[in-house]
Amino acid sequence: MRKLCVAMVGLPARGKSTLARRLREGLAVEGIKAEIFNNGNIRRSLLGAESTEADFYNPDNAFGREAREMICRRNIALAREWLKDGGDVAIMDATNASPARRAMLENAFSDLPLLFVECVNEDKLLLDACIRRKADLPEYASFDREAALENFLTRIAYYESIYRPLDREKFWLRVDSTANSILGEKPCEGSPYYPAIREIVVNFWVENLFVVRHGETEFNVQGRIGGDPMLTSRGREQARALAGRLSGESIDWVFTSTRLRSHETAAPLLAEKPSAHTMAFKEFDELWAGECEGMLYSEIREKMPEVTAGRNADKYGYAYPGGESYAMLRERVQRGLRRALFLAGGAPLVIVGHQAINRVLLTLFLNCRKADVPYIYIPQNQYYHISLTSRRKLFERIPFHG
Ligand code: F6P
Repeated sequence: MRKLCVAMVGLPARGKSTLARRLREGLAVEGIKAEIFNNGNIRRSLLGAESTEADFYNPDNAFGREAREMICRRNIALAREWLKDGGDVAIMDATNASPARRAMLENAFSDLPLLFVECVNEDKLLLDACIRRKADLPEYASFDREAALENFLTRIAYYESIYRPLDREKFWLRVDSTANSILGEKPCEGSPYYPAIREIVVNFWVENLFVVRHGETEFNVQGRIGGDPMLTSRGREQARALAGRLSGESIDWVFTSTRLRSHETAAPLLAEKPSAHTMAFKEFDELWAGECEGMLYSEIREKMPEVTAGRNADKYGYAYPGGESYAMLRERVQRGLRRALFLAGGAPLVIVGHQAINRVLLTLFLNCRKADVPYIYIPQNQYYHISLTSRRKLFERIPFHG
């Protein structure tokens, strides 16, 4: 079968390496041998600290320019050798930001189809978070945090000065790496691998996602909705039990809502996993009950019978006066999930959400009639574990507290 070279394109922190890994793994499932050739890895092993300085990326710095070109050539040679030895798809993972660099790749692989895959990320929140994370990498160990950040931002600015989006290249695919969607393409017709690559790009991949509801609160005990209550002692016990149950899992990220009960539930888990990152998303805040926030269900029945009747007639579509419906949640929960998955970059993650939020979250993975969504079982002592890759389709509910 004909070989293919895929060259990633995009500014730093746009999700290139994550997508490269997904491509390698997704193609492997189809029996296609793919390998990643990452310029950054060679650079770090050959040049170390010297290449961390932002000036190394200054297009006017001849030393840096030549060193980066040499690294690219070395990787091309490695990729060619690997293809000759039986590999099918070589994935060149680098910024490949300038048309000149891409022309160099086209020359080097003139005997093969060469598909450029450009990663775009225009979500400012995600970009900031990714950039902050990069400043925590071992490469910046000798910098203080602010200096590392500034250094990395300068590096990005240098890349921006030479970056041109794909256009004239023969075959390309432009991907919104935060939404798993294709923004444009010049299909690589003739390559038998192209349909599989497209499929991998648009598929939602979740290696290990744990969807947890916050522990019990006083409001839960009373049957009161919304608000920002704290956990009861039983709720805190549930949170500790959750941390215990997940202690054997390698958790990289814990996402919460901005509510106290969600933070309190995540706290023992974060103490158990000190290296895990955490972030609070408003997208995961509980369904806003508007005028009914803080009321008892029984009070709503008595004082606002039209609300109860409206919910009984169409719980999915009914919006609380001045508040939200389940239907309205879908978009924001989806945005939160995409952000979380992007930041986790394939690593295991936990989302500590709420009853309505988790119902909607689960239905982003499972097909379900809209009318059934508001009735999905979301206990406070069990979590859902989801793993959807091309090798495994798993959806399980795990108890963690009596
Ligand atoms: O009762 C807890 C709670 O999280 C409320 O804050 C929220 O309004 C409710 O669950 C959502 O569930 P339902 O739509 O079944 O009332």
